[in-house]
Amino acid sequence: MTGDDQLATARWHRLVSDRVAEMKRLAPELGSLSGPFWEGRADRYAKSVSLGDSEGEPFLRRLRRVAQPSSTAIDVGAGTGRFALPLAMDVRQVTAVDPSEAMLTVLRREAEGLGLTNLDLVNASWEDAGVESADIAFSSFVLTLVPDAGAFVTKLEAAARRHVFLYLGAYCGDAVLDPLWRHFHGVPRSPGPSYLDAIAVLRELGIDPEVRVVEIVNRKRFATVGEAVEHYREWLLLADTPEIARELEGLLATWLLGRRGALRSPLPTRPAAILHWRPRARR
Ligand SMILES: C[S@@+](CC[C@H](N)C(=O)[O-])C[C@H]1O[C@@H](n2cnc3c(N)ncnc32)[C@H](O)[C@@H]1O
Repeated sequence: MTGDDQLATARWHRLVSDRVAEMKRLAPELGSLSGPFWEGRADRYAKSVSLGDSEGEPFLRRLRRVAQPSSTAIDVGAGTGRFALPLAMDVRQVTAVDPSEAMLTVLRREAEGLGLTNLDLVNASWEDAGVESADIAFSSFVLTLVPDAGAFVTKLEAAARRHVFLYLGAYCGDAVLDPLWRHFHGVPRSPGPSYLDAIAVLRELGIDPEVRVVEIVNRKRFATVGEAVEHYREWLLLADTPEIARELEGLLATWLLGRRGALRSPLPTRPAAILHWRPRARR
């Protein structure tokens, strides 16, 4: 650990930056995780986090425990609206902020399909967004993409009148894929920040969050091994060559469970952490 790394915010910055640099080096065509990466993936992402699945989500249940019909909420990095959409059915107004136009296009389409008129879409990164404060401000599966976690969280807290939530994975997907990563790359992957790093960042900012670790059901299914190859090739930042595809297919064929049409990874559930606190200026 360097002197700088003793500060949680500096350590977070280094973990995210190293990870982004590794991605740029190995798969520059994928684009930045805080921008272009999502542009070509919005429809696929929407399918993987469909609205029906949100209903069983522990985070949605947690949000609903504090949401009132009169509440307003901000969803930072809303994506295709996995939480913004169902929450909008329960509260007065939801502002969904996301820098990806493609993700917001899917969200808008879904909102129209559901007849929701109380969603305000803001096409900007959280760092650049100008939005009015709301009763609840939350961000789900975004923080680990952001190098300056301190500024992101400070702005999130300042935007909340009553409740702030962060939702993030509590078990790095890398752990599952580590043997495959090492097989292809020969070295371990650059580690991303974990929810424990996020708690350390919050404590450094003087925030003592309530922490709840929950289990998310893995609903990801692949129709064929070929579909799984495409998915994991991208996760593993591997080049798009027939040789690599063949080798990965051989490895995945022995690893995936289930039957043709509904193949899945061996993990039935995976943990995630809900961090919650009351904004300090308003306690
Ligand atoms: C993994 S998706 C999560 C989407 C949604 N919150 C969910 O849980 O399904 C990450 C999203 O964060 C957005 N994002 C990335 N960097 C961001 C930033 N600096 N500010 C706001 N959103 C950001 C991406 O465009 C993408 O839609």
